[in-house]
Amino acid sequence: MIELANITKYYTRGFFRKQKSLIVDDVSLSIRRGETLGLVGESGSGKTTLGRIALRLIEPSSGTVRFDGVDVTSLSRSALRQFRQRMQIIFQDPDTSLNPRMTIHDCVAEPFRIWRLAGAREMEDRIPELLGLVGLQPELASRYPFEISGGQKQRVALARVLALNPTFIVADEPTAALDLSVQAQVLSLLKDIQQKRQLTLLFISHDLQVIEKMSDRIAVMHKGRIVEQGATSQILRHPTDRYTIRMIAAAHESEAWFGKESPVTTE
Ligand SMILES: Nc1ncnc2c1ncn2[C@@H]1O[C@H](COP(=O)(O)OP(=O)(O)O)[C@@H](O)[C@H]1O
Ligand SMILES: [Mg+2]
Repeated sequence: MIELANITKYYTRGFFRKQKSLIVDDVSLSIRRGETLGLVGESGSGKTTLGRIALRLIEPSSGTVRFDGVDVTSLSRSALRQFRQRMQIIFQDPDTSLNPRMTIHDCVAEPFRIWRLAGAREMEDRIPELLGLVGLQPELASRYPFEISGGQKQRVALARVLALNPTFIVADEPTAALDLSVQAQVLSLLKDIQQKRQLTLLFISHDLQVIEKMSDRIAVMHKGRIVEQGATSQILRHPTDRYTIRMIAAAHESEAWFGKESPVTTE
């Protein structure tokens, strides 16, 4: 249902002697409805750029993005608006999406107003429902973002996104800023909601363990290219690309993987 075909993105630097830097290099991938594709790679490999191109928050230099068969890269701004509601993003830092001067109630009410989704009565019913869905007590609604924890803020950001009933979500390192224990809870919640609502999810992380937990399939990104993609167990147990093999070996050496059985042998 989401298809990226031959996506390329470069930025040019300099004025007289123009230098091109290639950030995304001829990337093709597709994500089926209700599937989670984990996009993994080291910092600077182009993951965020690719994720934003998938939502057309950044224009690609070339290539196409199809959403349910419709080429969104060639849509006009007004035609795109119709798709925007169904394609949402969760950022690493929840403060990016929460206005510090709004209560949690108003933060969750905001998408209803912007998109004119519901009447006032219906909205007042849906806000506690959405807070419950992301595991937050209704009493929290009267607080401000600075009065709640990072994990709770990320749950509010998720509630805002879910208010729009999206079918495709890009989650860009959504738990990278959270403590490990909180990270696990938010990941479980996201996975649970993804499965219940059959959401199509592009899940971005530099952390292989997180990617393993979340993904049906994995695409490995290195220097702007997808060097390998396949089913999660396939990639983790039988990687064929040199970079993937190195990345998995490094993850096993790090303490984060301590206590876990090694699924791959590297000679
Ligand atoms: N607007 C921009 N102009 C120039 N270079 C950029 C821009 N945005 C990102 N880059 C560069 O693109 C590369 C990939 O960035 P990014 O997509 O954020 O990678 P990742 O999310 O994997 O860390 C980085 O080297 C970054 O400096
Ligand atoms: Mg990034």
